[in-house]
Parts: sequence; C-alpha cells; structure tokens
Amino acid sequence: MERKTLTRFLIEQQRSSQALPAQLRLLLEVMARACKMISHAVGKGALGDVLGSIDRTNVQGEVQKKLDVLANEILLDANEWGGHLAALGSEEMEAIHLIPNRYPKGEYLLVYDPIDGSSNVDVDLSVGTIFSVLPAPEDAAGRAVTEADFLQPGRRQVAAGYAIYGPQTMLVLTVGTGVHAFTLDRETGTWICTQENLTIPAESREFAINMANSRHWDPAIRRYVDECIAGAQGPRAGDFNMRWTGSMVADVHRILGRGGVFIYPADGRDAVRSGKLRLMYEANPMAFLVEQAGGLATTGEIPIMDVEPTGLHQRVGVVLGSRDEVDYIASCYGDRSPDGHDREGATI
Ligand code: AHG
Ligand code: MN
Ligand code: MN
Repeated sequence: MERKTLTRFLIEQQRSSQALPAQLRLLLEVMARACKMISHAVGKGALGDVLGSIDRTNVQGEVQKKLDVLANEILLDANEWGGHLAALGSEEMEAIHLIPNRYPKGEYLLVYDPIDGSSNVDVDLSVGTIFSVLPAPEDAAGRAVTEADFLQPGRRQVAAGYAIYGPQTMLVLTVGTGVHAFTLDRETGTWICTQENLTIPAESREFAINMANSRHWDPAIRRYVDECIAGAQGPRAGDFNMRWTGSMVADVHRILGRGGVFIYPADGRDAVRSGKLRLMYEANPMAFLVEQAGGLATTGEIPIMDVEPTGLHQRVGVVLGSRDEVDYIASCYGDRSPDGHDREGATI
C-alpha cells in the first residue's frame, strides 16, 4: 500500500481544489504538529507528571486537569507565530487570544478544545483535541479582532478536525471535501493517510447517551431511548446497543467508523439547560465532520451548523451521527400537537 503523508495529502488537496489555500494548509500542518506533541505528553502518563488536576477552574467552572493546561499551551505556542491566524479561542481561556503585535496576522480564526474527555486522562482511556477554523471577517485586517468576529454559524467553517489519543493516535480532518483520517506513525513521527472519504452508515442500531441523566431529559429524548431499550418487542422492531465513553471524540470516532448516534441533549438541569457541549469548539467542528461523512447533526430543533452563536463558550444540545437515526430523533422533537403535548400526552 502506498503510504501518503499528511503533507503530501494536503499539497494534493491544494492543487486539485480551491478548498485549501496555502495559509489554511499551513494552519493544518501546525495543528498536526501540535497534536503530535500533545499525543506524546498524553502517552507519558505518570512518567511525565501530566496526570491529575491543578487547583484552578476554567470559565466553565470545571476543575482543570494538568493536561488541559499543557495542551492549551502547546496549541497556543504552535499557532501564535506562523502568520496564519488573526486570533484564537480555547475552552480553557475565557477571552479570545490576540496574535501579539510582533507576529504577522493571518486570515483565519481558530477555536479548540485542547483536551476533550479530560476526566478520562487519569484512567488511561481515549481523549482528544477538537478544532474549528473560521475565516476572519474581511474588515478585521486593520483592527483588533473581537469575540464578536468569532460568532459565525458553523456553516462558515473552512476546516475542522480532531485528534484522538487512543490505542492509535489519529487525526481526522475535513476542509469541506469529505473526511479523511491519518494515523500517527510513532516510529517516524509522520501522519499517514489511512482512510480517505469516510462515510457514516445511514442506518444504525447503536446509541450513545449518558443514561444517568435520564430523569432530566425532555419527552422527545426519553421517548427515543425508551423505544431503543424496548428492542425487538418495541416500536423500532429491533434490538439496540449502547456505548458511552465520556469523551465526545471517542464516541464520534466510533460513529465515523461504524455508525450510531451520539446524544448530549439540553436537559432540565441548570448547568445543562441549553446543553453541556460547547457550540464553537465541540458541536460545530463535529457537526461539520459528520455532515461531510454523510451523517446529520442537529440540536433536535435545527441543524447545529445553522445556530447563530451568541458567545464563545455557548452551550448547545447535540444529536449527531447516522442520517436515518438522527432524522428519527428530530422527528421525536417535532412530534408535538399544537397544544404543546407530545404523542403520549406528556407536557413539553
Ligand atoms: P471536556 O473534557 O472538554 O470538558 O469535554 C467532556 C464532554 C465530552 O467529551 C463528553 O461527551 C461529555 O463531556 C461527558 O459528559 P458527562 O460526564 O456529563 O457524561
Ligand atoms: Mn470537550
Ligand atoms: Mn476540554
């Protein structure tokens, strides 16, 4: 089998389509290099003093893990000086980060989740890095970028991807021309293209949701999960399987590989009333990848990438994965009578 490196793959993309300008290619190379460094740190575990938490919370009110902070710094250092970014934003930083004046500024905005699934770090389960690239507004060239410049719907993303640090370290990317996966060759330090044009099977019998939150769900999700659990004897006339890793990256990676749906709905809890996952650096990039792979991604009400953002750290309900199954869940949300009752008569 011909071993095509990420660098060669990106250069070929640049030559064959308008989707990949040189600056964006450089940005993706920088992200790949930074993810390689993060992978190395994750892999050291207790030997590298990277496990455990620090005595600080982030803007989400979550206790920061050492790796959250380290990965954030690696991404910041890698991206600051290359001249491809106008500014960047991170789950681990309340405010956007402007490119210092000593460096040239570029045409793109980058947002990322440095370590996704960080509660899994200390127990040696898969974690990842998620990122999204947006164009900087044209009028931003001669002035300081503001948070408002980042608040563009996911449809405007020009690239998105994640790295997964699991048994294998992989990078999964889209620039709007399908979804492509690269495996890190740990001996040579090279990313090798191992799958082009990933597609998610339209049908699936596997769902991912944190069942411990079921008492907080709204009727649409409760009905959907009840129907899955009812199996062959229920209205779906088939048995379902359930998986929940606690790392969105790992769950989405499984879905890109063999289908399924991932659900983190808005629910009745105060902290999750509009969803737990963050629109700009979790939901949007994953929605872009999933749609590019032939799947669907919705809040339950509208496609995730059509949500008009109101804040960098805004949260959103997420339902994504196999097309037919996501369609079915959306129909559960839509299945309301005009008086605000669902089919079973529960008040919505
Ligand atoms: P992060 O580690 O970046 O805060 O993200 C964790 C997210 C996501 O990866 C995962 O699907 C979800 O939180 C798990 O949440 P619960 O612990 O509520 O199941
Ligand atoms: Mn996350
Ligand atoms: Mn995170």
